[in-house]
Amino acid sequence: MALATLPAVTGGDRTGTARHYLMCRPEFFAVTYAINPWMDPDQGADAARAVQQWEGLRRAYEELGHKVSLIDPVDGLPDMVFAANGALVVDSRVYGARFTHAERAAEGPAYLRWFADRGFETMEPAHTNEGEGDFLTLDDVVLAGTGFRTDVAAHVEAQEFIGRPVVTLRLVDPRFYHLDTALFPLDGQNVAYYPGAFSEGSRNVLRRMFPDAVIATEEDAAVLGLNAVSDGANVVINAEATGLSLELERLGYTVVPVDLSELRKAGGGPKCCTLEIREVSAA
Ligand code: ARG
Repeated sequence: MALATLPAVTGGDRTGTARHYLMCRPEFFAVTYAINPWMDPDQGADAARAVQQWEGLRRAYEELGHKVSLIDPVDGLPDMVFAANGALVVDSRVYGARFTHAERAAEGPAYLRWFADRGFETMEPAHTNEGEGDFLTLDDVVLAGTGFRTDVAAHVEAQEFIGRPVVTLRLVDPRFYHLDTALFPLDGQNVAYYPGAFSEGSRNVLRRMFPDAVIATEEDAAVLGLNAVSDGANVVINAEATGLSLELERLGYTVVPVDLSELRKAGGGPKCCTLEIREVSAA
């Protein structure tokens, strides 16, 4: 087994790698329940507008040279568009999700089946976890959030299954209930994050691990600017995160702004809509 060779992509002064993403068109998107502070069932959401915005995100990935695969949306699962929560995929091994809230429980098996049908090695989890919402993969380590959704026991379970060290980080602000709402990998080595989302101990861990991290303001975090997707050169990010975008450009990244305001009504941004499929190729 060898790491799949990924074609290079360029953006700004940097070189990144082409990715393979799994996405789910928000045909049945709605805000009918509230499981995070962004969701207001009285206000609801517009599925047609969400689909339009989501198509813009998909197009952005394809124009950058990334491959996008699709999973069929399921009627009655309005949050299924948030593919990041569906699993964690590292070296072609798929650690399944087990959702905190009953409203999303059926998504776990649906995503796991998609991978099993395509020949991936899958694992049904024994512990509560929301996939890449709370597991972010770097070259040598996986960062894992806990506090609102994913159980620490799942961090241990995932580490055993994927064979990479998993570092637990504690989330403390309910607006940033998944790790991917407060932090994103810029490449395989470095991250951007909003310190206010983390416990003091976890802030110390992040400072120690990532002395060169990009530190985001509350203003940028509050528009889900940290829910961004980087290929190492291009960063797909909510358009409203203007301060963070300027800083990323200054550091040599190409910023690709997207408007996902309708999906934000459910507490999601670009990363939430995106599950990375990290494959190994037989060598
Ligand atoms: N309404 C969804 C929930 O609260 C949003 C999930 C966003 N996904 C993410 N990866 N942060 O579960």
